[in-house]
Amino acid sequence: MKTIYHESAKYHVTGEATYIDDIKVESQLLHGYVYTSPVAHAKIKNYDFSEAAKVAGIHAILSYKDIPGHNQMGPVFKDEVILAVDEVTFIGQSIFLIAAENEEIARQASKLIKIEFEELPAILTIEKAIENGQTIQPSRKIETGDINEAFKNATNIIEGELKVGGQEHWYLETQICLCIPEEGRDMKVFSSTQNPSETQLLVAEALGLQKMNVEVDMRRMGGGFGGKETQGNHVAIWAALLANYTKRPVKIRLFRDDDQKNTGKRHRFLIKYKAAFDNNGLISAVDVEQNSDAGATTDLSMSILERAMLHAENSYYIPNMRIIGHAWKTNLPSNTAFRGFGGPQGIACMETIIDRIARTLKKDSAEIRNTNFYALFDRNVTPYGQKIENNRLPKIWEQIIETSDYFERRKQTDFFNNNNEFYKKGLALTPIKFGISFTTSFLNQAGALVHIYNEGSVLVNHGGTEMGQGLHTKMRQIAAKELGIDYENIKVNSTNTTKVPNTSPTAASSGADMNGMAVKDAIDKIKHKLSAFIACKFAATYRDNTTEPEFLVYDRNLIYDWKNPERKITFNEAVKAAYLGRINLSSNGFYATPGVHFNREKGYGKPFYYFAYGMAVSEILLDTLTGYSKILRTDILHDVGESLNIDIDRGQAEGAFIQGVGWCTTEELKYDSKGNLLNHSPDTYKIPGVNDIPEIFNVELLKGYPQPGTIHRSKAVGEPPFMLSLSVWLAIKDAISSITNHQIEPDFQIPATNENILLAIDKLKK
Ligand code: MTE
Ligand code: HPA
Ligand code: MOS
Repeated sequence: MKTIYHESAKYHVTGEATYIDDIKVESQLLHGYVYTSPVAHAKIKNYDFSEAAKVAGIHAILSYKDIPGHNQMGPVFKDEVILAVDEVTFIGQSIFLIAAENEEIARQASKLIKIEFEELPAILTIEKAIENGQTIQPSRKIETGDINEAFKNATNIIEGELKVGGQEHWYLETQICLCIPEEGRDMKVFSSTQNPSETQLLVAEALGLQKMNVEVDMRRMGGGFGGKETQGNHVAIWAALLANYTKRPVKIRLFRDDDQKNTGKRHRFLIKYKAAFDNNGLISAVDVEQNSDAGATTDLSMSILERAMLHAENSYYIPNMRIIGHAWKTNLPSNTAFRGFGGPQGIACMETIIDRIARTLKKDSAEIRNTNFYALFDRNVTPYGQKIENNRLPKIWEQIIETSDYFERRKQTDFFNNNNEFYKKGLALTPIKFGISFTTSFLNQAGALVHIYNEGSVLVNHGGTEMGQGLHTKMRQIAAKELGIDYENIKVNSTNTTKVPNTSPTAASSGADMNGMAVKDAIDKIKHKLSAFIACKFAATYRDNTTEPEFLVYDRNLIYDWKNPERKITFNEAVKAAYLGRINLSSNGFYATPGVHFNREKGYGKPFYYFAYGMAVSEILLDTLTGYSKILRTDILHDVGESLNIDIDRGQAEGAFIQGVGWCTTEELKYDSKGNLLNHSPDTYKIPGVNDIPEIFNVELLKGYPQPGTIHRSKAVGEPPFMLSLSVWLAIKDAISSITNHQIEPDFQIPATNENILLAIDKLKK
C-alpha cells in the first residue's frame, strides 16, 4: 500500500495549519478573560467590579445576572453553572467574564475586582469525600455469579487497595474559542471542541437562542485527548456571552497555567479489591469497589465510572464478580474524559490482582495471565453478559511471547537481579481488551454530507473532528476507495454544525468507525444514481441493455463494466455527463452501530460492538538508590483489524502508549491543603519527553485478522494502546519486588514516580 501522509502533515510542518488562534478577524476583536475563584469552597458575600469596569480598554464585565439564557452548562446533568451565583465550589470556578482590548488589560483590570468570600470546609480527597458520604450521582453495580459462595470455597484470597492518580491532558493548544456575532442575534463559533453539536446546544441555551441560530465550526484541534469532549464548551459559552453582549468578535484562549489549574483531568481512583484463586492461579472470584473523584460537578463522571466498571476484569474470564462504582463529590475542578475514559483505572486494578497472585504463588505473572484469559469457545462471557466474539488474545499471546522472547528474558532478568545489588531489572507482559462503542448507546450514530462537484473533485463533510489522530486522512482514504479516484481529488471540510447536524462527540475511539460508515453511506447513495445513469449511457452507446448498474466498478479514476471492461468512462467525464443529465451528485449519509444496548440498572447488555486487543512486553532498568527508571525495551502487538492507514495507526499506538507511560510513572498532581494545584506548568509537572521513549521500541500491528462488520474491516485505535503502558508500571514493580527476591509485596500505586519508588523500596528494606 502506498504511504498516505496525514492530510495536514505538510501544513503542520510549514506552520500553515490554521488553528483557532490563527483565524484572521478583520477588526474589532476583543479578548475575553475569566475571573475565577481563588478558594475551593465559599459563599460569595458581596462583590464590586465598578473600579475594574472603568479601566480604559475594558468593554464589558459580566456576572451571572447578564446571561440572557439559562445559567447552566452541564453536558449531561444540569449541575454546572456558567457563572457562580452565591457560592463557589472549586478553585478556578468562573465568576465574572471580562472583555478587553487585549489580555493584559483584562488581567490588570481583574485585579481591581473586589469580592468577599465566607470560606466553607472543602473536601479535597477521595478519603474525605467517602467520610462525608456525598456521591455526585447514585452509585452503580455490575454482578455475575455468586461471589459469597466463591469466596467461601476459595483456596487463596488476596485483598488490597490501589490508588490511581489523575492526569493533565497537556494538549498543545489550550482551550480556545473565537465567537463572531452575526445578523440578528446569530452567533458563529470557532471552537476547539471534540463535540461541536453539544457546544452549539449549550451556547444556544446560554444565549436564549435555538440551535439553528448558532453555527459551530472546527477545522482542527491542537490535541484534545478527551479534554475537549465537554470542557471545550466552557470557553465557547463564555466567549459567546461576551460577543453577544459587546456585539464584537471575542476570543478566549486560556493561559497554559490557567488551563492546567482550572480545567478537569483524568479521574483519580481509590479501588478496593479482593480476589479468590486456586493454586494454579485460576481466579474464581473478584470483588472490586471503585471510588472516583468526580470533582465539583458531574460532567462525564458517570460514563467514565461505567467504562471503568466495564473494564474491571480486563482480558480475563471471572466467573463470579461484583463491581461497585461510586463517584464522589469533591471541591476540585470537575474531572473529565481522558484517553481510555475510565478503562485505565479499571484495568490497572485487575492487573494488580494478577501480579499479586503471581507473587503469592511464586509463579511468573505472564503465566497467570495466560491461565485466566478469555477463551475461544467457553469462558467467554463478560460480567455484564456480553459474549466475546473474534477473540484475538490467544493469537496475540502466541506471537508476542515469541517475538519478545519473553521466557528467555525472564531468566536473564532474574540472573541480572541475582548479580546486581543497586541496579535491578524488571519485566512484565500486560494485555488489554478495550470495548469499542459509546456505552451510552444512542451516541453510536454518525452523519456525513458528500458533494461531488461537476468537474470531478469531491468535498467530504462528516460529523467527526480532527485532533491530530488522522481521522480526516482516513475519511479521505475511504472516499477515495469507494469512488475509485485519487486521494488528491478529495478534500475533507472543517467540521461544521450547518453541514452535519446532531453529531456525537469524536470520542470513544469510534470516530473513524462511525463517520467512515456514514461517508460510505453517502457515497453509496450517489453511486446508486450515478451507476444507473452510466449504465443507460452504455446501453445507448452499445445499443443493448447488458450493462447492469451493479456491474459497474469504480477504480483507478474510471467507471467500467466488469463483464464488458471495454465499456468504460473516466470518473470526471461520468460526473460531467451526469450533471448535464440532471443527476444529483450530492448526498448525506448516516450510520447507527447495530446491536448495541446496555441496561444501567441491571448492569447487563451488549454495550460494545466489538473489542480491540493488544499486548505489550516491557523491560526496565531501575536505580534503587535514586528511584530512577528507564525503559530498555518495549514490544507491542496491537490489533487494529485491517488497518485503514498503517502509519497513522502505528503512530496512535506509539503515542497512546507513551502518554500512558506518563500517567503511570512521572505525572503526579500535587495539591496544597487549600486545594491549589501546585504543579501547573511543565517545569514541575513531568510529561514524557523523547528520552522516555523505550531504547528499543518494537510496535507491530496484528496482521491477517480483518474485523467483520466494520468500515473496510478496520478497528478503532485511538485509546486502547494507552493501557499497554501498564506493562512498564508492572515491570518497575517487578524490579522493586526483586529486592526481596519477590518475597514481599511492594506498596505500589499509580504514578510510580522516582519519589514513590524510593518510598516503596524504603518500606521493603524495613
Ligand atoms: N491523537 C492525537 N494526536 N490527538 C488527540 O487528541 N485523542 C485520543 C485519540 N488519539 C487524540 C489522539 C482520544 S481520547 C480519542 S477518543 C481518539 O483519538 C478520538 O479519535 P478517533 O475516534 O478518530 O480515534
Ligand atoms: N467514551 C467516550 N466518551 C463518552 C462515552 C464513552 O464510552 N460515553 C459518553 N461519552
Ligand atoms: Mo476520548 S477520552 O473518548 O475523547
